[in-house]
Amino acid sequence: MDRIIVEGGRRLSGEVRIGGAKNAALPILVSSLLTDGWNTYENVPRLQDVRSIQLLLGHLGAAVEDSEDGVIRIDATGLSDPEAPYDLVRKMRASILVLGPLVARLRRARVSLPGGCAIGARPIDLHLKGLAQLGADIDLRHGYVEARADRLRGADIYFDIPTVTGTENLMMAAALADGRTLLRNVAREPEVSALADTLNAMGAKISGAGTSMITIDGVEALRPARTRIMPDRIESGTFMVAASLTKGDVTLVDCEPDHLGATIDKLRLVGSQIEINGRTVRVRGPEAISSVDIKTLPYPGFPTDMQAQFMVLMSIAGGLSVISETIFENRFIHVEELKRLGADITISGNTAVVRGRARLSGAPVMATDLRASASLILAGLVAEGVTEVNRVYHLDRGYESIEKKFSALGAAIRRVS
Ligand code: UD1
Repeated sequence: MDRIIVEGGRRLSGEVRIGGAKNAALPILVSSLLTDGWNTYENVPRLQDVRSIQLLLGHLGAAVEDSEDGVIRIDATGLSDPEAPYDLVRKMRASILVLGPLVARLRRARVSLPGGCAIGARPIDLHLKGLAQLGADIDLRHGYVEARADRLRGADIYFDIPTVTGTENLMMAAALADGRTLLRNVAREPEVSALADTLNAMGAKISGAGTSMITIDGVEALRPARTRIMPDRIESGTFMVAASLTKGDVTLVDCEPDHLGATIDKLRLVGSQIEINGRTVRVRGPEAISSVDIKTLPYPGFPTDMQAQFMVLMSIAGGLSVISETIFENRFIHVEELKRLGADITISGNTAVVRGRARLSGAPVMATDLRASASLILAGLVAEGVTEVNRVYHLDRGYESIEKKFSALGAAIRRVS
């Protein structure tokens, strides 16, 4: 199993190109199931999660062509098998995204229940409730969701909690339903808007994405389209934190600063200097990091996917920081590992109190989930001595060549097989 070895203490400087967004790529690749013909996707990041969804789409009967330059083509004309098996779904919860499109297209679906994951229970009840309101019969049997419907029909659907993949699943299902669907209290994440743009380019009639109510007028059929995947806001935020941590001077290229409002605001409060010029963002870290409080919230609030990285920054800040996690109930599993590096963090319920320390010190640590892994690499960049991050397969799910990108910025970092 691969490990990443980081020697801390280098100041990062230079340019880094931000890749395509994982969380936009996954639903957009899945949307290919809604039509016959070749869809083309550009700027697709080379990530384990993207490979997992390609495997799943191939298993369902779609033809998938993958070229070296980040272009993936998918044709679901041969879509035949409505079953997403446990072995493919358990590796990645986002596989549940095939449920809506399969029911819309094949009138039936059998998708393994995703099960638990490191960061909490993450139920799919809201996906199922919405699909039932669109007219699907839903059974849970032998660990699978079984859904059947004649043509889905438009409905007025309210989400108790804004869910990102739930909104995406229902938006795809409703695109081919008979009549108008209203989705209320939906997720407003930019990835939801990106999926709506792709569906509209395929001939769907969707408006309101990016607000809390989406209206979908169902159409009989969609056509293939060409889509460029937007920049990854979480990868961007991770490099911004890295620059801030190391008193660095890093310029992010191909970044979408409009999607990073909450992160940029907090980094400025921390003392970082941030200059925005179109799709280029220069981040200069402060000599002394100030403490700020963080509360994770649905977009446009502070992203839960940036919480672990920010906690590292607060670990070496000059004061006390209160970090509240309101999205996932068990998303502090990186804390015990950060403590091994000398961080002073106390958890009470969904709140972490971080007392900034002058320094962290390198140690072997274990990655536990995707963003937790990123936080351990960041901690390694500033810790004295050597930090060895084990189980980096979590990292490969969501960051493309992270060690190469950090190395190009001057970090002493390498991967060991
Ligand atoms: C997506 C992102 C993930 C990010 C998360 C929150 C993808 C592929 N993943 O995950 O990186 O951390 O949004 O920004 O886009 N919930 C329910 N019932 C449901 C669905 C969700 O109670 O049926 C709850 C969850 O437990 C959680 C909250 O809603 O507390 C938000 O989760 P959700 O937005 O669904 O997360 P994902 O879409 O799985």
